Amino acid sequence: MKKRVFSGVQPSGSLTIGNYLGAIRNFARLQYEADCYFCVVNLHALTVPQDPEELKKNTLDVARLFVACGIDPNVSAIFVQSQVPAHAELSWLLECQGYIGELKRMTQFKDKAKKRENVSVGLFTYPVLMAADILLYNTDLVPVGEDQKQHLELARDLALRVNNRFREEVFKVPEPYIPPKNSGGRIMSLQNPAEKMSKSAENPKSYIALLDPPEVIQKKIMSAVTDSEAVIRYDEEAKPAVSNLMVIYSLFSGKTMEEITRLYAGKGYGQFKKDLAELTVETLKPIQQKVAELSAPGAIEEILKKGAEKAEETAAEKLRLCQDKLGVLRF
Ligand code: TYM
Repeated sequence: MKKRVFSGVQPSGSLTIGNYLGAIRNFARLQYEADCYFCVVNLHALTVPQDPEELKKNTLDVARLFVACGIDPNVSAIFVQSQVPAHAELSWLLECQGYIGELKRMTQFKDKAKKRENVSVGLFTYPVLMAADILLYNTDLVPVGEDQKQHLELARDLALRVNNRFREEVFKVPEPYIPPKNSGGRIMSLQNPAEKMSKSAENPKSYIALLDPPEVIQKKIMSAVTDSEAVIRYDEEAKPAVSNLMVIYSLFSGKTMEEITRLYAGKGYGQFKKDLAELTVETLKPIQQKVAELSAPGAIEEILKKGAEKAEETAAEKLRLCQDKLGVLRF
């Protein structure tokens, strides 16, 4: 039996190379060995204020990027979360199994709540909806970046809690699939290596968006912070900014850290950054071309309809099982 893979990406801005290297690149790799579901989680995006038209546009853009990054819609199900109502329905059932205490411990909630005056209830219960996403599909593996680890633990805890209560496997307990930090699990901001690269960051110089034009990529990389040592070597503790650029270089070129260090011995940061910019532009070029091709009216919608039909079938079965277990009447 093939393993089942599920993952989601929020349409809350333009996707970055952090999203690509931490998660989406692995989606494409896993699809030939597993049965995959990849979801644009637009309901999660509503946990903070969104411009409605922008959100609709971003939702389709993320789906286009999935395909452009190599996810084959004939192999994997690509769909939008709101098109499969079972996500929201299971989320409610799971909210009634979750504890306020465990949600209060979520570091991402604490960070995001700190930054805003009004914190929506949805932002607080966000990880439960994420658990519903995953548990609906009997998921074995969830490819994500390191920042999602705690959310995944909650999904596992909720699954185990329900299974223990009913003394049977109502939910498959999912495993995380997270690359190590030096392989993309946590790509850092180009302006502050203590913060992760984020698509919703205020300063666009802190991230490279997958759809950034070549000149913009060049500018952003040339103005990335480094340090005063002018030596290219990998040391996360002492040289976090340069190490982060080296991770990106390594993943885009296939070269090891040692090879990169040797290549730039005595050359300084200017040349390294110039080459990294070129490498990034070249890597993103085919993705950007594919996105443009998918912009024909109706093209992506067709893919998403097909994906939602497949997802709906799998999800409905799990939702029914859970409703029956909890005593939710349906006839
Ligand atoms: P989101 O939309 O913030 O990010 C999408 C994916 O990209 C990864 N990621 C990163 N990886 C490495 N370095 C970075 N700087 C970086 N930034 C983001 C994220 O870890 C994620 O894998 N809660 C999720 C969406 C979600 C989900 C799910 C994921 C909803 N339901 C079910 C998996 C399964 C999120 O906000 O990801």
